[in-house]
Amino acid sequence: MTSGRTLIFHLSDVHFGLEDNRALDWVKQEISEQRPDAVAITGDLTMRARHREFEAATQWINSLDAPVTVEIGNHDMPYFNPVERFFDPYRRMSAIQDKVEKEIDLPGLAVVPLKTVRRWQPRLNWSKGWVTDSALEKCLAAIDALPEGMQAIVTAHHPLREVGTQGTALTRNGRKALDALAVRPVLAVLSGHVHDAFDIVEETGSGPVRMIGAGTLSQRVRSTPPSFNELVWDGRRLEVTVRNLDHVLTQDMQISDVPANALPPRQPGEPVARVNQVPRTDPPVH
Ligand SMILES: [Fe+2]
Ligand SMILES: [Fe+2]
Repeated sequence: MTSGRTLIFHLSDVHFGLEDNRALDWVKQEISEQRPDAVAITGDLTMRARHREFEAATQWINSLDAPVTVEIGNHDMPYFNPVERFFDPYRRMSAIQDKVEKEIDLPGLAVVPLKTVRRWQPRLNWSKGWVTDSALEKCLAAIDALPEGMQAIVTAHHPLREVGTQGTALTRNGRKALDALAVRPVLAVLSGHVHDAFDIVEETGSGPVRMIGAGTLSQRVRSTPPSFNELVWDGRRLEVTVRNLDHVLTQDMQISDVPANALPPRQPGEPVARVNQVPRTDPPVH
């Protein structure tokens, strides 16, 4: 960090098991060269929360030369062991225990986590987000405890967007969370899950909230190549650059709105979505 300038790398959806090693090697190199003040990883570390996937993911995360905070994604809860999912869902992340949902305090700025995954949901699609009252209270308490004048950057896996009807909401209680964040000193809410980058302002009844999404660093691309976000805060403005190996401009990497899921948009006449590279035994989740 140079004085008065804060550099944060926002990474997401590395999906070990279907990771993009070329992209991950590059990001690791960028981190060691640029030494960001913080690295925020907004979830989906693995494909199916398998032990071997977590071993690879936690090893890579622990090799990064920067303070790291990790959010949990819907792909990171044990799929094949419901007992473990319910009683000890974070056991497979023990190697990065000190980084999971960790607040990072920087000069004038704090990175504050907001959990959007649940062990179970009273609806069929568990891949979607849910901000519980306790998760929201924890996040708001952390923001309210910051010293006067400090700004917050909130990190979540799911974009805080309720799309369509209640039944198809991308993130249940997303609207409620945004309303609460709008009246606090929040620079932006960072998220992943949809595998494309965006930078939009969401209007709420309490005021605007900036929502910044990062793309994926896996082979599960949606409509843009693997990427991560480089955030620069100079004390007044938060600038976002979508870094990618294909040198696509930020404005061309960012989608204009939050989609309901991470599936690629179907083109007319296109029979198979690219996301179907995923092994056929996998359930159709995002
Ligand atoms: Fe994902
Ligand atoms: Fe996800």
